[in-house]
Amino acid sequence: MDPIPHRAKIQTKLLRWFEENGRDLPWRNTRDPYPIWVSEIMLQQTQVVTVIPYYQRFLKSFPTVYHLARADLSRVLKAWEGLGYYSRARNLHRASKMFVNHLSGKFPDSLESLLTLPGIGRSTAGAILSFAFNKEAPVLDGNVKRVLSRVFAISTNSKQSLWKISESLIPKGRSNPFNQALMDLGSMICTPKDPLCPRCPLNRFCEARALRDPEKYPFKEVKKKIPHVHAVSAVIQKNGRVLLTRRPPKGFLGGLWEFPNWKTEGKKRLGLSLKNRVKREMGMNIAVRKSIGTLNQAYSHFKLTLQVFHCQSLDRSVRGKWIPVQKLHLLPMSKIHRKIAEKIAY
Ligand code: ADE
Repeated sequence: MDPIPHRAKIQTKLLRWFEENGRDLPWRNTRDPYPIWVSEIMLQQTQVVTVIPYYQRFLKSFPTVYHLARADLSRVLKAWEGLGYYSRARNLHRASKMFVNHLSGKFPDSLESLLTLPGIGRSTAGAILSFAFNKEAPVLDGNVKRVLSRVFAISTNSKQSLWKISESLIPKGRSNPFNQALMDLGSMICTPKDPLCPRCPLNRFCEARALRDPEKYPFKEVKKKIPHVHAVSAVIQKNGRVLLTRRPPKGFLGGLWEFPNWKTEGKKRLGLSLKNRVKREMGMNIAVRKSIGTLNQAYSHFKLTLQVFHCQSLDRSVRGKWIPVQKLHLLPMSKIHRKIAEKIAY
């Protein structure tokens, strides 16, 4: 007996549904692996509607892997600004240099070689292999995981069985439309909340629906409580310029520019502690003026509340870079620091 119940029916129904209902997305009009790769990296952790304008702008700025490899990291980060998870942009840039320098610009078309590139995991590799090369490689992003764990009522957290199902469901020679169909079904019909089961082409085979509890799947991991970090930031001005520092090239928000900032760890007299901190760490005397406001930002692993103050430099700084206020828009910044820059640009 076929280990996957109703395999042939599932394949046919899903492909037919996709032909009639699949989304016309910009990265679906090509077989060129470069734009497909860019789109898949952007689509990790980010929704289609958010990605579309970034994808279009990115390809205008870097139309080929050679343009990307030659570009300054700062330009790449600027094109990524606001999309979040900036290590994706750094990895994309690093991988583009690897293509050009070690692979003569030829895009790898095997799972093993794709997995050696920074930023490409098994699902992204599967998407590139199926969409650009029509290879029978499975995908398992969040949407596909939800569809498969519902249809087959998978009640473990282990991804191993889902990978096996995803792989053995692919119809011969049809991995491209089939994997896209799974993704679209997950985002259009088999949604996390209130799935549209009556409109689902797989509803007759769906075990979670038969159990009358599709939302129970996929089984949720117990979420850790997200810490809340409080910090202060100084907008230090002198002669129409402001002082910025750059984050280290690797790690969280790596390579982005920001206003000097520090965790407050429950301190009360924020102005005084900011003045002392700037003196100690930047070797500069400042006068703290009025508050610019309090900003909040949620990241994947913590929440940030940042209190921002206008400050006046009383002498020269030894660190950081003085940037004219009207040029701040040229530098790549994280969302919360971009908000500060917009507040002071009048
Ligand atoms: N999510 C990840 N890859 C996708 C794609 N190619 N189309 C739609 N959603 C996706």
